[in-house]
Amino acid sequence: MSGTLKTGVIGLGFFGSRHARIYADHPAAELVAVCDSDQARAAAVAGETGAQGFDDLHALLALPELEAVSICLPDRLHEEAALAAAAAGKAILLEKPLAHDAATARRIVEAVEKSGVRFMVGHILRFDPRYVQTFYAAAPERLGTPIHIRAKRSGIRATAQRLGASSSILFYMGVHDIDAMQWIARSRISRVYAQKVELLGTGNEDALYAVVNFENGAIGNIDYSWAWPDGLMNGFRSTLEIVGTKSAAYLDCTDQGLYVVEDEGTSGGDTHLWPEINGRIAGDLADELGHFVQATLSGKPYVQHYREALDAIPVLDALAQSAQTGVPAEVVR
Ligand SMILES: NC(=O)c1ccc[n+]([C@@H]2O[C@H](COP(=O)([O-])OP(=O)(O)OC[C@H]3O[C@@H](n4cnc5c(N)ncnc54)[C@H](O)[C@@H]3O)[C@@H](O)[C@H]2O)c1
Repeated sequence: MSGTLKTGVIGLGFFGSRHARIYADHPAAELVAVCDSDQARAAAVAGETGAQGFDDLHALLALPELEAVSICLPDRLHEEAALAAAAAGKAILLEKPLAHDAATARRIVEAVEKSGVRFMVGHILRFDPRYVQTFYAAAPERLGTPIHIRAKRSGIRATAQRLGASSSILFYMGVHDIDAMQWIARSRISRVYAQKVELLGTGNEDALYAVVNFENGAIGNIDYSWAWPDGLMNGFRSTLEIVGTKSAAYLDCTDQGLYVVEDEGTSGGDTHLWPEINGRIAGDLADELGHFVQATLSGKPYVQHYREALDAIPVLDALAQSAQTGVPAEVVR
């Protein structure tokens, strides 16, 4: 590969539009093409970034000069694009979750392995300094054996309303913490017992709580909600704690460390995820895409192997099954 990675972005909604801007600004990337089935959106992002705009992902993937692609389509639409990108020989950054169920996720992995293309899943917490430091603190020589681990993620109901039935609390939010818990505990979840509530009529679950068991004997607890009123500062909060036989670690992203106080009240601002700093998108997402660009160019491994991303998806299936049936479910791998 040359010194610059020629990239494209498929899906230009909330997240894909950010991927496009980051590639357009990255010194080692060239944004060649963008695609959205909404022609006006494709034209707008193409106009802002100088890339070619398409409304058909197959036309974008047919560009011979294109080397890599971000897939930022709704959660249930990852398969067609991932299989087409693999068949076209492009390196792939697929937004999380790898897929909306384990059978689909396995088909994507199979296609990627058959084609031999580079493949990374966009697990952004692998690039968040707070989560990465917690992973370091939970190293076995420091933490000992994990005893219990808890993750909490709260979002606002406007997000659930925006996505409707195209997503679920598990695909959009929950997969972050399932991946983080398995990564930080250095063990996979084997069994879950979940319950959910749906009162607000958003087309999604309002809340899902679960108790989970890890292969290494630890127990875990997850607490997801996107029933919070839209006034929740920064639109989300998350926490994670792990307690081991020798030490413990916890992180708290309840706020972003920034408070803006006006007569109308106090508000926050994004200081970590994808803040705009000096005219560019910075933070975890820019670090993630920068890593994808550099590791693809150099041929070095990505920080997370896609098989670890795959490990999260059967847990989502088991959580959905348990929440539906009201009884515990085994994770089928
Ligand atoms: N890592 C994170 O923190 C994070 C945050 C937000 C979203 N995401 C992920 O990013 C993905 C996209 O989420 P979003 O919030 O941007 O969704 P979105 O609904 O805002 O955007 C999806 C876009 O895809 C387009 N689209 C739909 N079908 C298409 C097709 N066949 N061909 C081309 N374009 C098509 C839609 O017109 C829309 O513009 C999801 O998988 C989501 O889970 C990750």
